[in-house]
Formats: sequence, C-alpha cells, structure tokens
Amino acid sequence: MRIISYTFVIMAWSIFSVPTAVMADKEPSPFVQVGTNDEVKYANNLWQILEQEGIVGKNMRPMKPFVGAARPHGWILELVYQTINVNGHNGFIVVKRNYDQEGLSVEQVIQDRDKHLSSYTVMFQRENGYDEDNQNWFWAKYKPDGTLFTKQIDGAKVSVVGRFLKGKDQADNRGCIYCHASAGGGDYIFYPFIEIR
Ligand code: HEC
Repeated sequence: MRIISYTFVIMAWSIFSVPTAVMADKEPSPFVQVGTNDEVKYANNLWQILEQEGIVGKNMRPMKPFVGAARPHGWILELVYQTINVNGHNGFIVVKRNYDQEGLSVEQVIQDRDKHLSSYTVMFQRENGYDEDNQNWFWAKYKPDGTLFTKQIDGAKVSVVGRFLKGKDQADNRGCIYCHASAGGGDYIFYPFIEIR
C-alpha cells in the first residue's frame, strides 16, 4: 500500500512539476497543535457557510467531475474555488470533492453524487497571522455529513483540521502542508488554472 501511494505521489509530483529542492531548504518550525476545539469550531462554522453557498452538502451545485491524477485524493474529483466571507474575513477557498472508489466513472458520479462522495478536502486562506509561514492556509477534511475525519497523531485521535501538520518531521509527515508546500508557483495550490483572486 505504502509503495503504491508513494508511486502515486511521485507521479503527482512529476505531473505538477514540483521543485523538490525547495522543501529541503526550509527551516522546520515547531509542531503546532491541530484539531483543537477552536479549529473544530471554525471548521463547523465554515461548513455551514459552504452549505449555504451550495458548495457542500445535499443541495450542493453540481460541478464538472474529472478523473483525478494522484493519491491521496479521490479517483473522480470536482473542484469549487472562489472567495467567501467568514466572520467578516474575505478569503479564497478551494474545495475538492473526492469520489474515491477506484474504477468509478464520471457518468456514475453525475448520476448519483451522494452515493459516491467520500470526502471534501478544503483549503481556506485565513486572516493574516493565522499561519504566516504557510500563507495562512487553513486545512480541513470533512466527511460527506460535515463531520471531520480523524487521524492518529502521537497516539491520540485528532480531527483533521487546522495547520495540518505544521512542524512535523518529514519522515512521519503525511499532512496537507507538507505536500502542498511543494506545489508549483509557491501558493500551495497544485492545479495551475486555480488562481487566488
Ligand atoms: C501526499 C501529498 C498530499 C497530501 C498529504 C495532501 N494533498 Fe491535497 N493535493 C495533492 C495533489 C497532488 C493535488 C492535485 C491532484 C489532485 O487533486 O489529486 C492536491 C489537490 C488538493 C486540493 C485542490 C487544490 C490544489 O491544490 O490544486 C485541495 C483543496 C487539497 N488538495 C486539500 C488537501 C487537504 C485539506 C489535505 C490534508 C487533509 C491534503 N490536500 C493533503 C497532494 C496532497
């Protein structure tokens, strides 16, 4: 499994032409707590806004599904990206809907999104000072019902939300920031056609 997912990552890296040297030069910052109550609260509020905007949830507007290129994300994907307002802060958001079943077709997804949806991976650019080292991106992985995924970190079950996983060693780091820091253009976004407005 490990080997397979690494292969996918390497594939992704070559597809998205990642400058690998960049990461090695970076000074490691101390590990920052993720999945805290505040982060979870923020994520719950964000979810409600995304629901109202028709970006997530039962009444989400359909986008154009396409076959994804890389692990760890879905097999079939849909993207929504725009500026939204959260508590008075205007920030850019990218929501990725992941339809994760291998072999799934675009047609099957179009016919029944609810049935095939596995997760939403979300990055939202928060206010200055949230995470200056990483362009203030807030990361979250939601289940289709809006609750957060969890992950074992240092023996504890932690919600996948916040500055994920800022300051963790590369060796055990499968966090959002670790991968996305290597995206071309230095904006943490892999898809070249997504431009922060
Ligand atoms: C192993 C590397 C890796 C990890 C870990 C990872 N991503 Fe990604 N992510 C990618 C790649 C590669 C793409 C572009 C290809 C794709 O969509 O699958 C991407 C695309 C995205 C996008 C679409 C915007 C973009 O960058 O083009 C979002 C949103 C996203 N990821 C969120 C997350 C969140 C949230 C997490 C953590 C829970 C996460 N990612 C963890 C590699 C990773």
